[in-house]
Amino acid sequence: MKDRQNIHGSWANRWIFILAATGSAVGLGNIWKFPYIAGENGGGAFVLVYLLFILGVGVPIMMAEVLVGRRGRQSPINSMREVAIEANHSPKWAIVGWMGALAGFLIFSFYSVVAGWVLAYVAGMANGDFLDIGSEQAGKVFNDLLADPQALLIWHTVFVVLVMTVVMGGVNKGLERATRIMMPALFVLLLVLLGYSMTTGSFGEGVDFLFHFDPSALSWDAVLVALGHSFFTLSLGMGAIMAYGSYMPKGASIGSTVMTIAALDTIVALVAGLAIFPIVFANSLDPGAGPGLMFITLPVAFGQMPGGQIFGFLFFVLVGLAAWSSAISLMEPAAAWMVERFGMKRAPVCVILGIVVWILGIAALSSFNIGSDIALFGMNIFDFLDFITANVMLPLGGLFVACFAGWVLTKQISQNELAIKRPGVYALWLVLIRYVAPLAVAAIFILNLIEKLG
Ligand code: PHE
Ligand code: NA
Repeated sequence: MKDRQNIHGSWANRWIFILAATGSAVGLGNIWKFPYIAGENGGGAFVLVYLLFILGVGVPIMMAEVLVGRRGRQSPINSMREVAIEANHSPKWAIVGWMGALAGFLIFSFYSVVAGWVLAYVAGMANGDFLDIGSEQAGKVFNDLLADPQALLIWHTVFVVLVMTVVMGGVNKGLERATRIMMPALFVLLLVLLGYSMTTGSFGEGVDFLFHFDPSALSWDAVLVALGHSFFTLSLGMGAIMAYGSYMPKGASIGSTVMTIAALDTIVALVAGLAIFPIVFANSLDPGAGPGLMFITLPVAFGQMPGGQIFGFLFFVLVGLAAWSSAISLMEPAAAWMVERFGMKRAPVCVILGIVVWILGIAALSSFNIGSDIALFGMNIFDFLDFITANVMLPLGGLFVACFAGWVLTKQISQNELAIKRPGVYALWLVLIRYVAPLAVAAIFILNLIEKLG
């Protein structure tokens, strides 16, 4: 077997890989999106389905992505091609990498808009804008922000520059250094905030909402959203984890590493829910409030509580860090590919990519103001980008990666790369990646289609 080297560098050790991949996984998906989609889809039943998808579909596909990345040792586009060739298959599998890169751009564009709101709220909290205000006023603050394209543009620009700066530094001086600083800070902040939320609000009601299983609350729509979110939250289906896996040291076990990442991501989502819903209920607000949940409900609560200005500020710093470390992984696959393909330096590559996502982001942020009339399949641009990536492109990308790892790769390659000691565990992975994951994704797509047409 050829032992390839990665020209971009590699993580110092297995733990750095875990932290970097967790940095990619833990993001707005956990803290902003998960609580509000759980709220919109009725809570407990949605959460259960989501957890099943994480375990049965997300974890095996994440293993597949790391496997292919580490085998290929290049950007996802080139790794897919190389590994396909190694398995005597068509180099056209690189298309999966291309689709992923496209999904990465599209996700970045609306991700950066929400991250911009977060930055605006960091400033607002520091400024004491939310002290002692009611939910009506808080709603007005949020809606005024959305209606102001100039403010949105400034914060969006700041976020794109922050991300570019890190990706420019490359794997060791950029991604790894950022990981070493951001991730410990993120975990400390999360613990502080959990402790804080437990002392306030209706904790029990929040727990009940998240874990009370009522199957009648479940629609096919909700199942599609849960499936899409399990890909989105684990950063699957677009090459981010494949790229990070290509920097993974040889010899580190893929299975236990991936389990750790998925567990950390799930814990953060549940903790975020447990921090947010008690506050929602304590203020008799609506858990199904949608994307504004975190930006209207929480500031009101923080504004009422002792120490709320500090904790509110820390909360939005936490969300900002989480968004930043995720967005880095949205840009990395395309950046790595451009370096490989054109032999360019990282700096010009990142400037080019930054400009592209900056322009796309403008389209996304205009959905809330000057472009609010534009509708794509009945959705505004922002909602459409979210829907088409999370609920269509990522599950499809994951489906292809699953078929690739399960059916195209020889067992010799996957067994050798996964290096699972217990034969039963490898057999389980093979069943999940060959049958369970592809069939689950395909079935949910088809059933949703039938539902929509019928
Ligand atoms: N996993 C990130 C989150 O939960 C989003 C993301 C998706 C990041 C895909 C990279 C790739 O917020
Ligand atoms: Na996530």
